[in-house]
Order: sequence, then structure tokens, then C-alpha cells
Amino acid sequence: AASTHQARFDAAMAADERIEPRDWMPDDYRASLVRQMAQHAHSEIIGMQPEANWITRAPSLRRKAILMAKVQDEAGHGLYLYSATETLGVGRDELLDKLHSGRQKYSSIFNYPTLTWADVGAIGWLVDGAAITNQVPLCRCSYGPYARAMVRICKEESFHQRQGYELLLALSQGTPAQHEMAQDAVDRWWWPSLMMFGPPDDASAHSAQSMAWKIKRHSNDELRQRFVDICVPQAEALGLTLPDPDLRWNEERGHHDFGAIDWDEFWQVLKGNGPCNEQRITQRRKAHEDGAWVREAAAAHAAKRASGRPG
Ligand code: ACO
Repeated sequence: AASTHQARFDAAMAADERIEPRDWMPDDYRASLVRQMAQHAHSEIIGMQPEANWITRAPSLRRKAILMAKVQDEAGHGLYLYSATETLGVGRDELLDKLHSGRQKYSSIFNYPTLTWADVGAIGWLVDGAAITNQVPLCRCSYGPYARAMVRICKEESFHQRQGYELLLALSQGTPAQHEMAQDAVDRWWWPSLMMFGPPDDASAHSAQSMAWKIKRHSNDELRQRFVDICVPQAEALGLTLPDPDLRWNEERGHHDFGAIDWDEFWQVLKGNGPCNEQRITQRRKAHEDGAWVREAAAAHAAKRASGRPG
């Protein structure tokens, strides 16, 4: 029976069909999906922190309303992704516990500080722009619930990317001090944004298998290149410079060449040694503990309703 299951799974892969929660799937396929989807869900939730840092100090009511809506969207993305991960047979408690104890990762990018208001714009433009570049192909991921969650997430991310771009444009065309603030934010977020795509292909442990399983549709380096090519004309339109002296169009390749990424910095951030790792995880644990009474009350309410008592 096991070999029939495997044959059916392989045939579904070959035919580009979706795998659904009730279908048989190899244990390693399930484990790899849990790994990637959990990391993705955690990133959405941890990603609320750097931007939430500026909600109370947004420069106008309009900007504050936009930023609040955006941070709330990120919470929603985390919830869709936790739900999608639960279809693989893992509980949300278990996933959160693994995040809080450092046994599951979240994206490296959220371990950098948001020092000025312009960082909100740079995150929208670059971080959400990188996220979209990486996530649009995930709408065609072989696992149905993940692929479907990505459709809505990508639509919302596109809005986020545009709000960041528009914010940076306003600053870039503002006073000299505002322009300088926008440039400084881009200088600080550019390289970490390129690292979001993961290690180079020859150091990417999971890429080959994930591509064979059609979880990933493109390699880390392919998507990183696509992102660089998208950003160059956008930076020009913004009147801002990307902080890379080696960035130039390569006619032969039909792509932009770019400078070397500091992979030491990337691996250090993954090990927990980035500028804000400790702050992010401490705040996340505290938020979880502070929310205990809500979870208890919701569980008590559900139990009361299930017992048929009015309430
Ligand atoms: N931050 C933290 N960890 C990373 C990152 C990163 N930017 N990139 C790679 N890693 C980790 C991988 O999780 C893996 O660690 P593990 O074996 O402990 O799981 C290790 O580095 C080696 O990397 P790869 O083999 O290349 O990993 P993978 O094939 O999973 O590719 C990628 C990494 C591209 C991030 C992939 O998992 C993916 O597409 N994930 C979904 C998108 C996502 O998570 N986005 C989150 C940020 S976007 C946002 O929330 C706004």
C-alpha cells in the first residue's frame, strides 16, 4: 500500500496537481511544509513589532490610520498561515511554543531596528516588495492550503508595498532633511532585504528537494535577482540611491549585477546575534503571557456553549 501511495503522490506532483490535507503525503514533505509555513507564520507576527514601534509617532492621523491597518493585516496573515499549518496536523500551541523557545525560526529581516519614520516607508517598499517577489510563486505551491492562503496575502502585501513607496516618495521630495532620512533608511534596509531570500543556492539546504516537491518554484538566487531588477528603476523614480557601488546593468545577462552580500551577517542574525533578536522574542513571549486570560476566557466560553448552558 505504501508504494501505491507514493506512486499516487508522485503522479500528482508530475501532473502539477494540488496536495490536500486528507491526501497521503511523504513524512518529509509534511515536515518540510511545517518548517517553512511555521517560519512564515512566525515572521508575519514578529514582523508587527518593528512597524508598531512607529504607530504612536506617525506624523499625521492619515499615516497613523494606514500604519495601524497595515500592522493589523500582518496579524491576519499570521493567522491564515497558522491555520494552514494546522491542516498538517500540528497544533498552534506547539508552533508558538517552538517560536518562543527558539526551535523554529522567523525571518532574519525583523531583527533590525526601525530608527526613524522613514524606516516604515523602507520596510513597505523593500521588505514587503521582497516578500511579494518571494510569495507570488508560492500561490502555485503544491500544497493547497498554503497556496490558497498566499493569494490573499499577496494582494494585501501589494497594497503595503505601495504605501511604503508612496511614503518614501513624499519624504524624498520633501525637505532636504526628509530626503536624507529616506536615503538613510534605504541605505540600512537594502542589504538585509536581499538576505531575506535566503542563502545562496549552493548553500541552500532545502532548495533542491523543495523545488522537486513544487513547494518552491524558483531558487533563492533567482528570486533575489528578480527583486534587484525590479528595484533599480523604482529607486530611480524615487530619487534615491541603492547603496551598492557594484550595481550595474549587464547587457549580456539581461540583469543587473550587484555587489557581494555579507553572508556572515546573515548567519549571525540566524544564530540570534542580530541587533534586535533578543528584544523581538522577549516582547513576543510577554505578549503571549499577557494574552493568557483572553485564551482562558475564550476556552471557558466555548466549553459553556458546548455544554448547552446559556451564556
Ligand atoms: N531568515 C531566517 N531564516 C532563513 C532565511 C531568512 N531570511 N532564509 C533561509 N533561512 C533558513 C531556512 O529556514 C533554513 O533553516 P532550517 O533548516 O533551520 O529551516 C536555512 O536558513 C537554510 O535555508 P534554505 O535551505 O534556503 O531554506 P528554504 O529552502 O526554506 O528557503 C525561504 C528559505 C526562501 C525563506 C523559504 O523558506 C520561503 O520561501 N519561505 C516563505 C516566505 C517567508 O517565510 N517569508 C517570511 C518573511 S516575509 C514577511 O513576513 C513580510
